[in-house]
Amino acid sequence: MTRAGRLDGRIALITGGASGLGAATARAFVREGARVMIADIDEGRAAELARELGDGAAFVPCDHTDRGQTEAAVAATLAAFGALDILHNNAGGPFAGPVESADDAVLARVIGVNLVGVFKMTQSALPALRESAARRPHGASILFTSSLQGIKARPNYTVYTASKHGVVGLVKGLALELAPANIRVNAICPTVTETPMLRSFLPGMAPDMDEARARLKATIPLGRMPEPEDTANAALFLASDEARMITGVALAVDGGQMAG
Ligand SMILES: NC(=O)c1ccc[n+]([C@@H]2O[C@H](COP(=O)([O-])OP(=O)(O)OC[C@H]3O[C@@H](n4cnc5c(N)ncnc54)[C@H](O)[C@@H]3O)[C@@H](O)[C@H]2O)c1
Repeated sequence: MTRAGRLDGRIALITGGASGLGAATARAFVREGARVMIADIDEGRAAELARELGDGAAFVPCDHTDRGQTEAAVAATLAAFGALDILHNNAGGPFAGPVESADDAVLARVIGVNLVGVFKMTQSALPALRESAARRPHGASILFTSSLQGIKARPNYTVYTASKHGVVGLVKGLALELAPANIRVNAICPTVTETPMLRSFLPGMAPDMDEARARLKATIPLGRMPEPEDTANAALFLASDEARMITGVALAVDGGQMAG
């Protein structure tokens, strides 16, 4: 007898789904029965992952800061799979450095990608999510990859921290605004995790990468660095009906850092 998947029959769109946390989540969602549209600016990696995942996935080139492209990504999802039940706003970009070093281009990029882009993607997806929520007893779901920097701060990451706190504000507002429509909205707040983005983060902590990793690990009560699958597992839970009574939360995936 085949096991029922935790996301059987669901259609998800994951931005930034070609790499790191988004790719781990795409794999977990497909394993649990969902079909996933990988929406990413990196068309090559998105196509490669979609090939790996077979019938459970497709890809669409998408820069979520461009409204035309977010609209097209939703249209591609509906054309490929017929509905949209889960939007995972995961795409984001790093910035490490003193606040004075963030010139206008940096501010526009970091706030644009981490905050304005997720607004646009969400606005584009809402008509399809409302339709899904009206059909399903436990509604539809929107996830955001914020960051531990969405709920606490760290020196030299102020611009990134402000953008990710903005995401948590967006989650709380949307959770209340969309609850009557039966759409749940939650954030995942991972601590620093081994993905390609890590190379941009670690130099803010120590000049040497190994030293930075060791320092970081020493701050995690569970004593190990998180893996992308840890964040994917949190996303899987929040996207599934197991979390049907959970909305408006910012869930830390941090090995206990927030407890201290
Ligand atoms: N890795 C970490 O330590 C960490 C910790 C906390 C939060 N985060 C957040 O997790 C998310 C994913 O990061 P990751 O570590 O997997 O990084 P990553 O670099 O491995 O993946 C990011 C993906 O997003 C895509 N992307 C970038 N800009 C985009 C845009 N404008 N439109 C669409 N796609 C875009 C990239 O092409 C890439 O495939 C980001 O929002 C990041 O801020 C990461």
